[in-house]
Amino acid sequence: MAYRLCVIPGDGVGQEVIPCALQVLQRVLPNLEVVEAEAGWACFQRTGNPLPQHTMEAVAECGAALFGAVSSPTRRVEGYRSPIVQLRQRFGLYANLRPTRGLPGSDPRAAHVDLVIVRENTQDLYAGRERMQGEEAIAERVITRAASERIARVAFTLANQRPRRSVTIVHKANILPITDGLFRDAVREVGASYPQVAISEMLVDTAAMMLAARPDQFDVIVTTNLFGDILSDIASVWGGGMGMAPSLNLGEDVAIAEPVHGSAPDIAGKGIANPCGAILSAALLLRHHWQLSALAERIEQATYAAVEGGARTPDLGGQATTQAVVEAILERL
Ligand code: NAI
Ligand code: MG
Repeated sequence: MAYRLCVIPGDGVGQEVIPCALQVLQRVLPNLEVVEAEAGWACFQRTGNPLPQHTMEAVAECGAALFGAVSSPTRRVEGYRSPIVQLRQRFGLYANLRPTRGLPGSDPRAAHVDLVIVRENTQDLYAGRERMQGEEAIAERVITRAASERIARVAFTLANQRPRRSVTIVHKANILPITDGLFRDAVREVGASYPQVAISEMLVDTAAMMLAARPDQFDVIVTTNLFGDILSDIASVWGGGMGMAPSLNLGEDVAIAEPVHGSAPDIAGKGIANPCGAILSAALLLRHHWQLSALAERIEQATYAAVEGGARTPDLGGQATTQAVVEAILERL
């Protein structure tokens, strides 16, 4: 089978870490066909469009993409919309998988962390339905039964393949009984078809505290879009922080791998960005989109072995450069 990948480095450290992930992918898949494409703030500055039509087409043709990060302004800029949010919507990438594997370090709790946040990826406040009404600023939060059931199936299928077989539904149904009540009930109904998987639920604020204090209790967490965004950043601390955190956006036919971090303007261009988040994201693409679990496993093992062997960029307390980390990983592959 021919594997085709659209590569979108984006802005800032995206330009540094995506070539690393590509190098690793090409090591295990020598026949990988690569299509380069652009998106992001620099692209917007140059062309007036943060996500050109030819990039959309390249993603559609390949069916798989590796996306770095883009810089998005926090104020409204005419003509600009976050490309990754557009890509998620355009290709129906309704599931965002965000695993955290504990990186043994100074805190003994880290060694027992092995969790995945399954984040609904198309609706909630992320739909960006905002408007002004006089001096009132309004954001609409829409939660549908169909999208809640769809994400629940991803969570239960995944939990069923993991040793602990447990799903925690995270919501705020005490304050939002209509929207989050629907989400919770829909997920529980889907869960009834997976009798082997244990179901529990937790309010999002408690979940935030528990992820910080007792992260080992979680296996699969399923939650709405914005909560998943925030909770996965907390969880990422146990895995070594933003530089290590991977994610995969999954739909029916298309998948986009994407490190959780942003364009990191504070360290961009210095050659010290941690490439592991991007590399581990590529591994997720292999496992969940191309069903190449053994290759994904090899990449993950080589990456963790390299980091534990001392190939650490400054965010992990080391002095290694981006390039030195990639070389340590390639050597172990
Ligand atoms: P950020 O993730 O870019 O940076 C947060 C912190 O993590 C910084 O201290 C940074 O140096 C560090 N960091 C991030 N990636 C790293 C890596 N690979 N290696 C080592 N350290 C790393 O988030 P921030 O600063 O809030 O946002 C910066 C820009 O990125 C903004 O324009 C924002 O809109 C954008 N962003 C884009 C995302 C995307 O494209 N998916 C996601 C998050 C933010
Ligand atoms: Mg985020």
